[in-house]
Amino acid sequence: MADIRFDGKVAIVTGAGGGLGRQHALELARRGAKVVVNDLGGSMDGSGGGSDAANKVVEEIKALGGEAIANGSSVTDDAGVARMVKDAMDAWGRIDILIANAGILRDKTFAKMEFGDFQVVVDVHLFGTVKPAKAVWEIMREQNYGRIVVTTSSSGLYGNFGQSNYGAAKLGLIGFMNTLKLEGQKNNIHVNAIAPVAATRMTESLMPPAVLEQLKPEYVTPGVVFLCSEEAPTGAILTAGAGGVCAVADRRDRGRLPRPRRHRGRRARQLGEDHRRDGRQGLRQWRRADPEVLPQDAGRLSRSSPGNDGGRSRRGRPFLFCNLKALAE
Ligand SMILES: NC(=O)c1ccc[n+]([C@@H]2O[C@H](COP(=O)([O-])OP(=O)(O)OC[C@H]3O[C@@H](n4cnc5c(N)ncnc54)[C@H](O)[C@@H]3O)[C@@H](O)[C@H]2O)c1
Repeated sequence: MADIRFDGKVAIVTGAGGGLGRQHALELARRGAKVVVNDLGGSMDGSGGGSDAANKVVEEIKALGGEAIANGSSVTDDAGVARMVKDAMDAWGRIDILIANAGILRDKTFAKMEFGDFQVVVDVHLFGTVKPAKAVWEIMREQNYGRIVVTTSSSGLYGNFGQSNYGAAKLGLIGFMNTLKLEGQKNNIHVNAIAPVAATRMTESLMPPAVLEQLKPEYVTPGVVFLCSEEAPTGAILTAGAGGVCAVADRRDRGRLPRPRRHRGRRARQLGEDHRRDGRQGLRQWRRADPEVLPQDAGRLSRSSPGNDGGRSRRGRPFLFCNLKALAE
């Protein structure tokens, strides 16, 4: 970790006026990056706003000897996002890193939730990531280099009571990442997700002080630094908190090849053999077609349902898909 540097690199960190974003911005600047500190200010539910929070972090970075620009726009505001990107390009001529971190909460059970509360949370988290990503995408493609980190959450990956709006937006970001990682690959644009656990204003009322003390935002930032580095993988979901980092894996069961029921004897054996052969061929073709689509570790996972691999890759039998042939075509 100590040797990861960002000299000559330019980063945009959204929602960097406080909490996790501030920590990411400070750490990138400490490691040599020039940073655009974006933050709308405002309260946790997204109301109010101002540039003070972003300005303060810029001052902190400058006091450390770094370079930074403040931007007080909302990540949902097209003109503000365009200005943020233009300011970075005018000042430094490139954009290498985008950490899409800005976020708000409007928690309520689905029964009590107004549609407006659903919409605004999806707007900030999902469109507030899509818009900055779109604004830097062409720049990164032309540079043949880019690192994008989206900020997801265990609420999206596993669910959380009272957070249907937030969970929907946060898992939407994984779908977004899964496509960008493919489309960005030939231009060396890597796209990853961080699922943090940290003591910030979002969580300070949920846990006792002794626990919060173990969950400082700076214990999440090393995971983000890695995802911003040249060595970053693409398409990874890291959970990070309390100094620990682990990869989240998508698990599937081994699947079954459909067996013909109404045939007996030789005909049945022949059909069964055809199915198995098609399955094996499909698997081989699919692996040859795009090895990135089937990460090595995922091929060894054997359970179903999304889960957390605890940082270890499990040894299991490679999974088989019922529709391998369709995938291969
Ligand atoms: N703290 C956790 O345990 C935790 C867990 C999972 C996910 N997250 C995610 O991490 C990210 C950072 O959250 P945090 O815990 O540091 O909370 P935070 O409230 O301290 O930080 C969020 C920042 O985003 C800014 N912001 C909000 N709306 C904005 C907008 N429209 N445009 C620009 N900036 C805006 C806020 O002003 C604030 O400074 C969020 O996306 C959050 O959902 C946090």
